[in-house]
Amino acid sequence: ESENKLQLVHRRVRAFPDFPKTGVLFRDICPILKDPAALTAVIDLFEEHVRKKHEQVDLIIGLDARGFLFGPLLAQRLGVGFVLIRKKGKLPGATVSVAYDLEYGKAEVEVQEDAVAEGQKVLLIDDLLATGGTMSAAVELVKKQQAQVLDCLVLVELKELNGRDKLKPHGVFSLLQY
Ligand code: PRP
Ligand code: ADE
Ligand code: MG
Repeated sequence: ESENKLQLVHRRVRAFPDFPKTGVLFRDICPILKDPAALTAVIDLFEEHVRKKHEQVDLIIGLDARGFLFGPLLAQRLGVGFVLIRKKGKLPGATVSVAYDLEYGKAEVEVQEDAVAEGQKVLLIDDLLATGGTMSAAVELVKKQQAQVLDCLVLVELKELNGRDKLKPHGVFSLLQY
């Protein structure tokens, strides 16, 4: 059953060599969104994992931009709210931000100050884990709000980049590994 769902998802991920630059093998999740059965399978698999592993979840937090494609669907399934972590300068009102290093230069992510309450149990979700830089910054942001990160959920994990190690002691749950 879960195996079949994984197959539906797996066959809807494409690889593009040398995008966005030479040497990068880009894993494109867009075909999943064009296939309702595959998209349902993604949310089913995340839901199964969450219900099995976590007794209480207060909030799903998605990462800009591709985390927004899956996060709200999972949040609806679980009957909890969804919050956006955005790249700097996109959110109105009081925000909290965390800067992080990219391969070249720096980036910054932020969340609205009133979006996450102290002590809330949250799940972070994104499409893909590469170096883990983006997800680590998100974890820091949640911790700044004194909320608790239960788990980091991703569709795709690029194993050779060891993003999982960077996130320790937080767990990573991935559907597909390359
Ligand atoms: C991609 C991907 C992850 C991140 C993973 O986002 O969606 O969020 O990179 O890389 P990392 O683990 O090395 O941080 P990107 O910022 O390229 O663009 P997006 O706005 O399309 O999500
Ligand atoms: N984000 C970072 N690395 C990526 C990759 N190889 N494919 C898709 N998105 C990415
Ligand atoms: Mg992204």
